[in-house]
Amino acid sequence: MESKINCDDRYSGAQVIHAPAELQKYTEANRAAWNEVMPLHQKAAREKWDRAFLQPGYVCLDDVEVEMLQCMGIRGKDVAQLCCNNGRELLSLKNLGAGTCVGFDVSDEAIAEARARAELCRIPCQFVRSDVYAIGPEWAGRFDVVYVSAGALGWIPDLRRFFAVAALLLQPGGHLFIHEIHPVAEMLPCDSPGLTDALRIVEPYFKAEPYVEYGGLDYVGHAEYSSTLPQYWFVHTLSDVIMSMIGSGLALEHFSEYPMDVSAGHHRVEQAHAGVPLSYILIGKMAGPARFDKRTAND
Ligand SMILES: C[S@@+](CC[C@H](N)C(=O)[O-])C[C@H]1O[C@@H](n2cnc3c(N)ncnc32)[C@H](O)[C@@H]1O
Repeated sequence: MESKINCDDRYSGAQVIHAPAELQKYTEANRAAWNEVMPLHQKAAREKWDRAFLQPGYVCLDDVEVEMLQCMGIRGKDVAQLCCNNGRELLSLKNLGAGTCVGFDVSDEAIAEARARAELCRIPCQFVRSDVYAIGPEWAGRFDVVYVSAGALGWIPDLRRFFAVAALLLQPGGHLFIHEIHPVAEMLPCDSPGLTDALRIVEPYFKAEPYVEYGGLDYVGHAEYSSTLPQYWFVHTLSDVIMSMIGSGLALEHFSEYPMDVSAGHHRVEQAHAGVPLSYILIGKMAGPARFDKRTAND
């Protein structure tokens, strides 16, 4: 007899389920915080990325990620990126041979930069300003790959709803590809000039409530700025990530962990070669038909 473990509501050590209005409070606050910091990121790196993508075929992704993407299959695949920021990763996927590419991000400033770069460099990618949770049914079932990269999941208050959106975007047999910051990295102090022990555990692994911070988002140009805008950062355990993905109808295909820092805040740990997991790649596959049938999406 087939047995299926069904304890969805009990697996989580930390995850909180949020009501839609509460979600919007967080995501709108984060939108404002990202709009505030984007000009600083642009001041530090906009020209650098423009120059880079003016070179034909330029790819900003690291070798490990490129190898995994190629192993999964990216050439000719229609890709949606969630939380795409300034578009550099999606432009890279396009340069790796992806088919139709659409990036979604809540920040107006990030999307404006991504659109301008795609146009300047003549790389055909579409960029849509949208909260992930508000992505409309017109996008359902249109993608072979949903791509999520470093520093995206931390802005997401409710993983179950996030993965449900990813699943809706995918065709049957499509893949969700995540290259993210390992939650163990979140337990360690961020790089700073006065840091004496980068390997000291300073934060818990299980933390249900978000970190609320003001400013400090310019990890690109490292400009100090004061802000009155709160930003909300959620640390999700690996079990929350994996089980939320499985709960949305995706089967686990691949999971690997790495000592490489993808957060831009834990280079000191990486350089210590202490065997600490700092990043991971997770691949899920849409097993059955998409729950949202694209043929009936507009009914
Ligand atoms: C750290 S950045 C993404 C980083 C990306 N890997 C890169 O290197 O450019 C996080 C992005 O998530 C976006 N974001 C945060 N909350 C979001 C939401 N609810 N829906 C869509 N985008 C969101 C932010 O606007 C920001 O551009």
